[in-house]
Amino acid sequence: MAIRLGDEAPDFTADTTAGSISFHEWLGDGWGVLFSHPKDYTPVCTTELGRVAKLKPEFDKRGVKVIGLSVDPMTDHEGWIKDINETQDTTVNFPMIADPDRKVADLYDMVHPNANDTLTVRSVFVIGPDKKVKLTLTYPASTGRNFDELLRVIDSLQLTANYQVATPVDWKDGEDCIIVPAVSDEEIPAKFPKGSRTIKPYLRYTPQPNR
Ligand code: BEZ
Repeated sequence: MAIRLGDEAPDFTADTTAGSISFHEWLGDGWGVLFSHPKDYTPVCTTELGRVAKLKPEFDKRGVKVIGLSVDPMTDHEGWIKDINETQDTTVNFPMIADPDRKVADLYDMVHPNANDTLTVRSVFVIGPDKKVKLTLTYPASTGRNFDELLRVIDSLQLTANYQVATPVDWKDGEDCIIVPAVSDEEIPAKFPKGSRTIKPYLRYTPQPNR
């Protein structure tokens, strides 16, 4: 069954390039990103994994652990990572799950048979500290994902979790946020000491609280 926002992220044990893990235990109390790529030794995936390795400090800064998955065996992962390091001028610095029997891929509904009946699509799951799924993305094999956008969404999710704000269209780090409707006008001065602007009773802005 498809995994929906708010669902608990299914737990599993798996072999990864960093050893065997129990997923929830590996996540600990922080945020996590689980993402699939269709196949080892393929061009788009090679560029994606290189990019994620380069962005690892950005994920670390946000307290987010990252883990990749493909339905290829560990020996393929190990050989391919050497190619990624060489061609993308980086060092892959996060674990990759080897899932040749599709145990995890099936658990997370990452194989979409009408697109391809053996490979995974490009799935992304962002998981919160409560182990609930906060974001899902699904891209086709032919389109590399935008991991800057993933970081932008994580920033938005973390602002909502910590400060009762939402982020407007095309929001970027540092721009004004929207006060969520659950906050009454009376609560605003105490909760948003940086001030607020009311455009309509339902459209209230405040400077980004954590800046
Ligand atoms: C790629 O990563 O380039 C790719 C993988 C599977 C199908 C098509 C492209």
